Amino acid sequence: GRDLLSMADLTAEELRDLLYLAAQLKAGATYPQCQKLLGLLFYKASTRTRVSFIAAMTRLGGQALDLNPSVTQVSRGEPLADTARVLDRYLDVLAIRTFDQRDLETFAHYAKIPIINALSDLEHPCQVLADLQTIQESFHGLAGVTLTYVGDGSNNMAHSLLLGCALAGVNVRISSPHEYQPLDRIVQQAKKIAGDRVEITTTTDAIAAVKSAQVIYTDVWASMGQEDVATSRIPIFQPYQVNEELMSHADSSAIVLHCLPAHRGEEITDDVMEGAQSRVWDQAENRMHAQQALIASLLGVTG
Ligand code: CP
Repeated sequence: GRDLLSMADLTAEELRDLLYLAAQLKAGATYPQCQKLLGLLFYKASTRTRVSFIAAMTRLGGQALDLNPSVTQVSRGEPLADTARVLDRYLDVLAIRTFDQRDLETFAHYAKIPIINALSDLEHPCQVLADLQTIQESFHGLAGVTLTYVGDGSNNMAHSLLLGCALAGVNVRISSPHEYQPLDRIVQQAKKIAGDRVEITTTTDAIAAVKSAQVIYTDVWASMGQEDVATSRIPIFQPYQVNEELMSHADSSAIVLHCLPAHRGEEITDDVMEGAQSRVWDQAENRMHAQQALIASLLGVTG
């Protein structure tokens, strides 16, 4: 089946169709009930992704099964290749949250059902679908919008934003400390997708990067599994805090996005998070609509 392991698994046309479907679903459109079964295999904690997938599948008329790894044999060492071939016989689609992108590739190789990346060390494509939906709502389109990501450019969000924005025709600037720049191969991949028409840049200068940008995006400075380095990162990332001072350099109509969970006082201040430019709650809601569109599309039940 079709998988979504990376944002780059979509074509520009498929992305556009998904965002159109997500907007229609948000506006109340209904589609034939799908009566299929979605599995969620999450090795890491999750609020938004887990609950929005369950809500999305329920709204489609299907059911979601939360496969807590600690109560399956994967926690006792059963090979993923075997697990994949077994789950393939029970489920219609499987979303996986894992520490290692290679786990997703193993599942995709051994299972015929669609495999969805629900966050890995490398990417978070489901989040970017909702992000692009939120940008589209705010600016009545995507082409020509400039998004500046401020923070850890080497993380999964920065990578999927690079690829997703390139596909959508959104200019993207990643501003991050020197030692936290995105993987060069992802930057090159995004540039290849974007061609000449879209700006793809990386910099260490947050103030220059937010100038004239319409979307300011940030994320945590240390992800789950990086707790041991979280404190030592704070001084390195301090110049990349999204606060009123930084926002004063952005376009006056700029919106602020954060994939959440947020650490107020670290990557974002409370006043910006709760301020008039913040769209973070719409963004979180859109996870459900975008993933409903994604599941419907992968299962071929789009009407
Ligand atoms: N943004 C996001 O993926 O949130 P969760 O970790 O709560 O799923």
